[in-house]
Amino acid sequence: MFPRDFAWGAGTAAYQVEGGWQADGKGPSIWDTFCHEKGRVFGDQSGDVACNSYELWEKDLGCIRQLGLTHYRFSLSWSRLLPDGTTKHVNQKGVQYYNKVIDDLLACNVSPMVTLYHFDLPQALQDQGGWKSPSIASLFDSYAKFCFQTFGNRVKLWITINEPYVCAKLGHEDGIHAPGLKEPGVTAYLVGHNMLRAHSMAWHSYNSDYRTAQKGWVSLAINSDWVEPLDTQCKEDSAATERYLAFTLGWFSWPVFVTGDYPEIMRSAVDSESKKQGYNGTSRLPIFSKDEPTVLGTADFFALNYYTSRKVKQGEGRGNVLCMKSDRDAGEVLDPSWPICGVSWLAVVPDGLRKLLKYIKETFNNPAVYITENGFSQVGLLQIEDDQRSKFYKDTILEVGKAINEDGVNVRGYFAWTLLDNFEWADGYSVRFGLYHVDFEDETLNRTIYQSGREYAKIISKHKFSL
Ligand code: GAL
Repeated sequence: MFPRDFAWGAGTAAYQVEGGWQADGKGPSIWDTFCHEKGRVFGDQSGDVACNSYELWEKDLGCIRQLGLTHYRFSLSWSRLLPDGTTKHVNQKGVQYYNKVIDDLLACNVSPMVTLYHFDLPQALQDQGGWKSPSIASLFDSYAKFCFQTFGNRVKLWITINEPYVCAKLGHEDGIHAPGLKEPGVTAYLVGHNMLRAHSMAWHSYNSDYRTAQKGWVSLAINSDWVEPLDTQCKEDSAATERYLAFTLGWFSWPVFVTGDYPEIMRSAVDSESKKQGYNGTSRLPIFSKDEPTVLGTADFFALNYYTSRKVKQGEGRGNVLCMKSDRDAGEVLDPSWPICGVSWLAVVPDGLRKLLKYIKETFNNPAVYITENGFSQVGLLQIEDDQRSKFYKDTILEVGKAINEDGVNVRGYFAWTLLDNFEWADGYSVRFGLYHVDFEDETLNRTIYQSGREYAKIISKHKFSL
């Protein structure tokens, strides 16, 4: 069912697993700052120690080997490598750490997929305006070039930015992720724009300076739910679904894969609302400058993070409230037949992934796709024999197989989120997505495989050599 060279992976992110928040010269990131403020995160928890992968990397490697992964996705902590965010000062201890991770993986025949940015901006750059500042794009580009130069002889799959939607919206509109800004209707668009510019500059740098020698692929990880109209016969629900898609998946994929610009539905909605609100002659949704290289075509593959699905109904109309939700004007509901796993937002809909993959094939000209995240969480009483999650992985991977074999989608790999229980952002350690349980109560931070981990290992061993 799966191509011979299919990537079987699992992922993590630096802030969620590494700990060592001030070890060996690492600079602080916005997540260090955010967690150290009271009331931001569940139980005022933080990633100060997390799974301590900074010191216990070899334990993680043991898990990776036990699962039989062919690929491992992890992120680099920008401020561990460049404490103040700039290449003026390189922290060699950080370089050594990631060199070891990469070399150990390769020695075990596991290919690294490396994310440059997974939510943890160096605090020093936040102090200069962070993602709101236009100059962040060239600072990110310098960081990216430093990473290509330092690790690119061994890393062939790169993700520039993980989930720009989540960074922009949760961090700058809702204020529930770092840097905790609540500036609705304005800042998220600006931040999203600068992330696209940053991504694009880094892709162009790779393309012109590194691709020939290093022969890798670069993309950005786009999160998207699968969405359908609540009432398929209702025109308003269908129109709302189009708008919903334009403001989520379309926001980042249209510029990169289709036109070099935002989806027309999004552009016209934000422009006309901005006009009504007295933004004379300017829109809250920024415009791509003709003086910068185009963002169109700046992805060598489609990196998709899929967790859940939604039904969409017509919105309540655009009121006077300045926010993205009002611009989007579409309501979301959960189908009562979908089981909820752990966190309230995560309805389990494996076939939504198949539908979304088909949509991506048809809309974005049949790109190579890596599913860079997909997973299932536990909350409360944790079960090592997690039957529900085992079934989730079986069902979901079956849908991926159908997408490949029946719908002809060019899926190149699947990465479970996540290798081991870790710091789940605003939910702290209360929400567990791991294939391995981590005992955060005990200082050894023991890793124990869940039944779902064993199930995933079985699936991998069955398919890895099936051809
Ligand atoms: C994604 C994020 C991951 C992980 C996951 C589960 O948005 O990239 O870091 O936390 O969600 O919520």
